[in-house]
Amino acid sequence: MEKTKLFYRTIRYFLFKIDPESVHHFVSYFIKIKGFLFLFFKPKRSSQVLDIDLCNVSLFNPIAMAAGFDKNGDMVNGLNSFGFGFTEVGTFTKKIQTGNPRPRLFRVPSQYALFNRMGFNNPGIEKGLENLRNARFYFAVSIGKSKETPVEQAVDDYVEILKTIELSRYKDVKKKIIYIAINISSPNTPGLRLLQNKKYIKDLIDQCKKTSDLPLFIKFSPDFSSIREFETTLHSALKAGINGVIVTNTTSDETITRYVADDIRKAGGGLSGLPLAQKSELYLKSALKICKGKVPVISSGAVMSKEDILRRLQWGASVVQVYTGFIYNGPTFVKDCLKYVISKINESGYPGLIDYQKKFIQRKSK
Ligand SMILES: Cc1cc2nc3c(=O)[nH]c(=O)nc-3n(C[C@H](O)[C@H](O)[C@H](O)COP(=O)(O)O)c2cc1C
Repeated sequence: MEKTKLFYRTIRYFLFKIDPESVHHFVSYFIKIKGFLFLFFKPKRSSQVLDIDLCNVSLFNPIAMAAGFDKNGDMVNGLNSFGFGFTEVGTFTKKIQTGNPRPRLFRVPSQYALFNRMGFNNPGIEKGLENLRNARFYFAVSIGKSKETPVEQAVDDYVEILKTIELSRYKDVKKKIIYIAINISSPNTPGLRLLQNKKYIKDLIDQCKKTSDLPLFIKFSPDFSSIREFETTLHSALKAGINGVIVTNTTSDETITRYVADDIRKAGGGLSGLPLAQKSELYLKSALKICKGKVPVISSGAVMSKEDILRRLQWGASVVQVYTGFIYNGPTFVKDCLKYVISKINESGYPGLIDYQKKFIQRKSK
């Protein structure tokens, strides 16, 4: 974990006395205002060293906000002003969803973790696209099946959402989408994780590819019965033609969620933050072994320090996503991490770094 600055530690002390979801809404308000003010400044890149090329889109850096923080698609400008290279917005379903009853988001401060059973509360894809008209930067869009859709009909949900994007009157919004994240890994939508199965995955990808020409990424859970089973599913997904992989979502593994109070845990949900570190890194290494050089791999799960970011980039992750780390480390986290990663790269050249970045830099200097 990062050593948190005294200023944010004090603020966090008071914020953590209030219900987490209410704090999220309160903080979102300031992020939106900051985003609005940010429109009057020319966005600054921290250093050319970290420029990346993801799905033919040039981005200022490979640190992204993970899905689920900006569920409405109205914080892209604000989050970029905190240093993020981009935000993965959503998860959006085909129609508005209220999600599970509150309380549904809990802190586990002793473990630097969060436990949530939000259940895809979101305004629906149409409203999401309308909100995204105001985004000045590129972003990714996460999509998922509705709560009431049975797993046998889940593919229709994804196809319908993609059609809505394709046919949307907000043509400029589609142009700013870096990739679509097909979310089949949240633990809080009944039957969703069953889609992470050879039986469903090929049809899901085939149908999505027929509907949209946007790059399609799949976000996996860290709770496969074994790493081999994950690798088999990943092979099937690659064979079906996915363009990228995100590992991982939150965990419902009871050996890890034991940190959560019994009454909260028993009602279901997924854990994020520090206790997820070992699993998310295990899945990352496995995904890199299979995908490196073929399609980009995005790391999500327990990115709690600047060292976590540098290490995962050095292993070959194309992007590192942050969520719980932002809550515990505060608004300066991303910019501090960027400074650190840049200084390390400048110190030791490109320490085992990332072929795609080298290629990108060579291409630019030609
Ligand atoms: C409150 C909350 C809501 C989330 N909602 C979503 C979501 O809608 N879609 C999704 O793909 N992931 C969602 N996630 C998972 C995060 O994107 C991320 O994969 C996970 O939290 C692990 O990363 P972290 O340890 O850095 O938080 C959510 C996580 C939290 C804490």
